[in-house]
Amino acid sequence: MITIESLKKSFDNTPVLKSINLQVHKGEVVCLVGASGSGKTTLLRCLNLLEIPDEGTIKIGEKVVSFGEKKITKKDIKEIRQYSGMVFQGFHLFPHMTLLENIIQAPLTAKQQDKEVILEEARVLLEKVGLTEHQDKFPDALSGGQQQRAAIARALMMHPEVMLFDEPTSALDPQLVREVLKVIESLAKEGQTMVIVTHEMNFARRIADKAFFMDDGYIVEEGPAEEILTDPKEERTREFLALLQDE
Ligand SMILES: Nc1ncnc2c1ncn2[C@@H]1O[C@H](COP(=O)(O)OP(=O)(O)O)[C@@H](O)[C@H]1O
Ligand SMILES: [Mg+2]
Repeated sequence: MITIESLKKSFDNTPVLKSINLQVHKGEVVCLVGASGSGKTTLLRCLNLLEIPDEGTIKIGEKVVSFGEKKITKKDIKEIRQYSGMVFQGFHLFPHMTLLENIIQAPLTAKQQDKEVILEEARVLLEKVGLTEHQDKFPDALSGGQQQRAAIARALMMHPEVMLFDEPTSALDPQLVREVLKVIESLAKEGQTMVIVTHEMNFARRIADKAFFMDDGYIVEEGPAEEILTDPKEERTREFLALLQDE
């Protein structure tokens, strides 16, 4: 589903992704873990070309793009983006739209389906994430957990092959974390391919097939999530997990 080869990205001559290789198969749930600043967000943003990498190759679905040689076109960006849906740390809902309006906005703009079909799907997804009774409220009137569940529904409306989550629960009060993780877990059970950046290690061990540990712009360890997140081989991974336990 996703193959990344030798991906590099610098900001102002400071390398942030130093040579990333990574594969995600269809139906896999992959967790990306690592200390703050190690490059996790940049990697996710490169996957949907919110950042344009400097070198390397990204293959996602049927689309392959190589960076560094020729200019990336709007068409490349559009094609790459249609494969993934992104859920950010800070929800990113439109504040002037109700939940329902937020959720139908992208498919309405894409004009590939009739409004009735879109609305019906929105109803099903709102039910699935437990927000039916809140559909006509504005984001401000909802808890962070509800907003994040709406953001997940909004991303799902575009039927992405891959869902990308960037620390989806790290901005939430502890009691709201669980309701969001439950939604993500239900997607995992349905076979949705996902890449999840998270510090929720118990959750990651439970739902992820594979884990990648990032440090200083490199993936330094990868393997079955249970193994990497319980008994890693690399010293840096051990240190990172020990720090999380202290929190
Ligand atoms: N747009 C940007 N401009 C300059 N530096 C950036 C930008 N985005 C990220 N960085 C830097 O890249 C490094 C990795 O950041 P990030 O990918 O956000 O890491 P993580 O998500 O693992 O915390 C950090 O040092 C950060 O300051
Ligand atoms: Mg980040």
